[in-house]
Amino acid sequence: METVKKRSSFTGKIGFVLAAAGSAVGLGNIWRFPYLAAKYGGGIFLLVYLILAVTFGFALMCAEIALGRKTGKSAIEAFGSLNKKYRFIGVLASCVPIIILPYYSVIGGWVSKYLYAFCAGEISSAAQDNYFTDFIARPFEPIGWFLLFIGLTALVVLLGVEKGIEKVSKLMMPVLVVLTIGISIYVMFMPGAMEGVKYYLTPDFSKFSVTTVLAAMGQLFYSMSLAMGIMITYGSYMKKEVSIESSVSQIEIFDTGIAFLAGMMIIPAVFSFSGGDESALGKGPSLMFITLPKVFDSISGIGGTVIGITFFLLVLLAALTSSISLMETVVSIFRDKFGWGRKATCLFVLFISIVLGLPSSLGFGVWDFISLAGMSILDMFDFFSNSILMPIVALLTCMFIGYVIKPKAIAEEVELSGKFRRKWLFSFMIRYAAPVCIVLILVSSVLDALGIFRI
Ligand code: PHE
Repeated sequence: METVKKRSSFTGKIGFVLAAAGSAVGLGNIWRFPYLAAKYGGGIFLLVYLILAVTFGFALMCAEIALGRKTGKSAIEAFGSLNKKYRFIGVLASCVPIIILPYYSVIGGWVSKYLYAFCAGEISSAAQDNYFTDFIARPFEPIGWFLLFIGLTALVVLLGVEKGIEKVSKLMMPVLVVLTIGISIYVMFMPGAMEGVKYYLTPDFSKFSVTTVLAAMGQLFYSMSLAMGIMITYGSYMKKEVSIESSVSQIEIFDTGIAFLAGMMIIPAVFSFSGGDESALGKGPSLMFITLPKVFDSISGIGGTVIGITFFLLVLLAALTSSISLMETVVSIFRDKFGWGRKATCLFVLFISIVLGLPSSLGFGVWDFISLAGMSILDMFDFFSNSILMPIVALLTCMFIGYVIKPKAIAEEVELSGKFRRKWLFSFMIRYAAPVCIVLILVSSVLDALGIFRI
């Protein structure tokens, strides 16, 4: 039975685009993209990434948003409402945000702690070698920050789509852009920074290989918040007269633009600090929580503290808008499934996320004996959701749209608000190119895990 209750919606295009961009721009843009670009040949990686964004990313994002808007449902019901036999895809897709939200919020808690530490003037202790590892190993403190971060997220979700998510995105996203541009400009004037800019932007063709493409594709996926049910949920809140095609283009410009600028601030800053030693870029958490504090500490006077505070504020905003989209997706899944009210569902989701997040936090300290193939508990969740479940969900989504409901069904939805200019590209991507690429990503990430694991 259809419910007669009206589904919440974004007020218009700007609200939708900023909220979706808020989801897309996250930790992945800020620490993962610069590191990958540096590793896989600078300019050449950027080029590959851009090409993939306007083809592969474009098609998948259009598909998810249109699927949500067409059915007016979150992932769990969207697939089943078009064809009962394929309900299981929705169930699988719904597992992804449920798994990610808790551990993403643990990391969000770490970011909050760093922002606090910089505000409290503890910059030189934050730059000590063991500061980060000591902090995450403590039993209670990281949990406190985790609770604060996830509590803030829940507060926004509790306020609803229009009064919470849209309002917050309209405020936070412009601030985020200004902060990113501001820091990039500042960094440009640090001694030796230009070497880093050159390194970042000059294509190194010798580093180009199939792995470059796979790495770019895996990053694109995660960065655009695809295969997590998020875009389906947000699509279900989108008004019929708003253009899906141009919204997707704008979200992509936002997401890629911020990722690019993050590279422009991080790589030159690290180069300037390390005297051009690219290995200082490290990767993952060590870059953000160990190397960058050292870089900020090395800036003389008050400059380092100011830049540090600005940087962690920026990261916090990016992480918050992403976790909001995750929680909203989980809330809408439970609401669609059980017909509960927003407030009760929100508190319920908050509770289970806290329970699921605790092991991830404790896994770096008192529970560090639990590990698998060198992965901590948090890494295991991350690996299972990002490297296994997400490619499977993306593949099934493409198959479902390409061969069950057919690309035409999605095209019709997109055409409700004007011409679908890249329709042929969309169909080709969904039916042929994307499934092949996704299988390759899946295989390569599993192989990668059998070798050395990354985060
Ligand atoms: N797109 C986000 C990023 O780049 C990833 C993400 C979004 C993760 C939403 C979780 C939830 O970091």
